[in-house]
Amino acid sequence: MITHLTVSLPKPPATAYPIWIGADLLENCSKWMPTNVSTVVIITDHHVKKLYAKRLDHHLKKAGYNTLLLSFPAGEKSKTARTKSKIEEKMLTAGCDRHSLILAMGGGVVGDLAGFIAATYMRGISYIQLPTTFLAMIDSAVGGKTGIDTPQGKNLIGAFWQPIAVIADTQCLKTLPKQHMINGLIEAIKIFLLCDVKSLTDVQENLDLILSQDVSILNNIIHRAVTLKATIVINDEKDKGQRAILNFGHTIGHALEHLTDYKHLHGYAVALGLLVEAKIAQLLNVLAEEHYVFIKRLLNRLNIESSALKQFDVHEIIQCTQTDKKKQDGVIPYVLINALGSVYTANNRFAHPVPESIVQQAFLDTIED
Ligand SMILES: NC(=O)c1ccc[n+]([C@@H]2O[C@H](COP(=O)([O-])OP(=O)(O)OC[C@H]3O[C@@H](n4cnc5c(N)ncnc54)[C@H](O)[C@@H]3O)[C@@H](O)[C@H]2O)c1
Repeated sequence: MITHLTVSLPKPPATAYPIWIGADLLENCSKWMPTNVSTVVIITDHHVKKLYAKRLDHHLKKAGYNTLLLSFPAGEKSKTARTKSKIEEKMLTAGCDRHSLILAMGGGVVGDLAGFIAATYMRGISYIQLPTTFLAMIDSAVGGKTGIDTPQGKNLIGAFWQPIAVIADTQCLKTLPKQHMINGLIEAIKIFLLCDVKSLTDVQENLDLILSQDVSILNNIIHRAVTLKATIVINDEKDKGQRAILNFGHTIGHALEHLTDYKHLHGYAVALGLLVEAKIAQLLNVLAEEHYVFIKRLLNRLNIESSALKQFDVHEIIQCTQTDKKKQDGVIPYVLINALGSVYTANNRFAHPVPESIVQQAFLDTIED
């Protein structure tokens, strides 16, 4: 099964790009590539290079393209200015010009980094996202947020730069370890918690099938999550309003990732963040306890236990959230849900200032639950 949707961005200059989801799409990916390309630069990590990128490079060479295959060590620790400039150096040395096309092949780390290179190389060149993790297919490959981490925090340097296509070949998920499936599923659960209770209950009912990688269920989840994300991005491409809701769970999640030096997967940190941030909504009487319990039980089934928060000092977490880009007038705003599949809005705001004492209490209560 192959599904397709289009992200149409209205802001001038109006642009639109296709998202393709299905099995065995990579073999035909040149179909979606522009014809006037000087060099196709495949950017990937060492792991995905062996699994898929070498084969893609071979296909493209056979099809007559001039290609350059560049890779870096897998993992979040590579999402840095240093890796970015090393790759740029290699592209410059190889003579890549403004008509080069980047193929960002890999998980969210590759997508964010290669997308940022595309945004700045010769003041911006085209790129296609070829996500190979569940997380990247569900979330990071869509929406045009690109960037790198710095010692001060995650994604603090970056750009909005939309791909010209996203091609999610679900066949790649066959080699993805279970914990990475869970990692991606958390981002799907997040977006369903925000705006789609039906898909949320579908996940709850079909959890075993999802984890056993049933192809048609995975395709449906990716399609649904990406459609929701694309709708939000179309309304607010540059993250000035509604797009802020996608940050649900991420204020605390990013702090946990930073404090553990990116030892845990992004989705795992976000899952703990979802619990604490849902608890904040409960403490503020915005979210009913039964809904908090639903979230907790669902995450428990994915082996996410709030007791994991015991290792952290709440003051350090709060301190760490202070570098969040979403900070407004010195205050960190939190996204609150007021029911499963529904975001609390007030005064035209999608995220709300929360007293530090409530964040602290929510953290301690989440551990106790
Ligand atoms: N731009 C956005 O909107 C956005 C949204 C969410 C997350 N992110 C970012 O995404 C990143 C996390 O992405 P991730 O979880 O995909 O991590 P990742 O890119 O580090 O990939 C995880 C691991 O899976 C391996 N891998 C990739 N594809 C594989 C496959 N098909 N089979 C086997 N192994 C495979 C990789 O080599 C890596 O070791 C974070 O940096 C996060 O900030 C960005």
